[in-house]
Amino acid sequence: MPEAPNPEASDAGTTAAPPRVFSGIQPTADSFHLGNYLGALRQWVAMQDTHEAFYCVVDLHAITVEQDPAQLRRRTKVAAAQLFAMGVDPARATVFVQSHVPEHAELAWILGCLTGFGEAGRMTQFKDKSSKQGTSGTSVGLFTYPILQAADILLYTPEPVAGRPLRVPVGEDQRQHLELTRTLAQRFNHRFGETFVLPDAHIPEGAAKITDLQEPAAKMSKSASSPQGIIDVLEEPGPMRKKIMRAVTDTGTEVVYDEEKKAGVTNLLRIYSALEGTSIPDLEARYKGSGYGQFKKDLAQVVLDTFTPIRERTLKLLDDEEHLERLLAQGAGRASEVAVRTMETVRERVGFVGRGR
Ligand code: AMP
Ligand code: TRP
Repeated sequence: MPEAPNPEASDAGTTAAPPRVFSGIQPTADSFHLGNYLGALRQWVAMQDTHEAFYCVVDLHAITVEQDPAQLRRRTKVAAAQLFAMGVDPARATVFVQSHVPEHAELAWILGCLTGFGEAGRMTQFKDKSSKQGTSGTSVGLFTYPILQAADILLYTPEPVAGRPLRVPVGEDQRQHLELTRTLAQRFNHRFGETFVLPDAHIPEGAAKITDLQEPAAKMSKSASSPQGIIDVLEEPGPMRKKIMRAVTDTGTEVVYDEEKKAGVTNLLRIYSALEGTSIPDLEARYKGSGYGQFKKDLAQVVLDTFTPIRERTLKLLDDEEHLERLLAQGAGRASEVAVRTMETVRERVGFVGRGR
């Protein structure tokens, strides 16, 4: 595993440190779904090979809408277990729970003081979510959610700032939050001196938007999709197969990619292509003349082959809570080392008096 960057070593000219990757996911469901997996989590696993990786289960973000405490605790563990089960390797990647590292909330406060009210109000995800929650259900936390996300990312600014990128794998829907993060980093740097790297969004092509199996025009989403429209990573094989067989296709019989006229088939082709690593034209050729039935049956098998081992490993990890907690404590320790150092610099630059020793 790559050594944590050592500023002295870097100053001495040994700047072979790899780029960093940071990403986060909310523990707000009993299972991740296929959209999360293809749009984001699969990249997490791949990127740990070439990056110094920090992956965070963002429980502070989760409470921007009401959560049941026992359920939140359970879902946080289930989220972490799924990450390990998908192949995030605790020996190489730092996996941790956001609330274990209080610097996230502290930096969010400071960045919030650099964010315009109107600027935050233009975030489309806030506008969508708040219109669903209604005025009384919309918390100030939901409004400042993207600022906390910016803090998450910028805390892990690599040292030295120059020459080491910070990449953030997310789905397409997070692009605007990444733009805000870059704007805030730039603003801070401009006002207080070079402190933060400008992070890059790393948005997978093709699989970036997986749609609902029943409503192929809408994003597959835990809040909006019906149970029939969403495939959970931890779902039992029987129901999983059934959902794919019953996915809405379109009139006609040909398996061809056409976003407008064949949104359902197009979504299934994207899923198939991303999971199997076969190009869409190759899949179209394979299923030429064979109709939807065989196509769906084969796709169901590909999905099952991907998720069954992940489900089994997740359940096993959840069986040994102490072990899981130890892994998360170790992750929090490593994340803290970086976060504490970043905050020391930030506090000094902003003009806070040091506490002394
Ligand atoms: P969420 O489930 O909305 O908290 O999203 C968690 C991560 O999964 C984010 O990086 C999203 O961009 C990504 N994601 C969520 N739903 C989808 C989807 N239907 N297709 C692709 N990526 C998604
Ligand atoms: N807002 C992200 C989502 O809904 C979750 C998130 C929080 C995140 N902090 C982050 C993603 C930092 C990337 C980096 O998916």
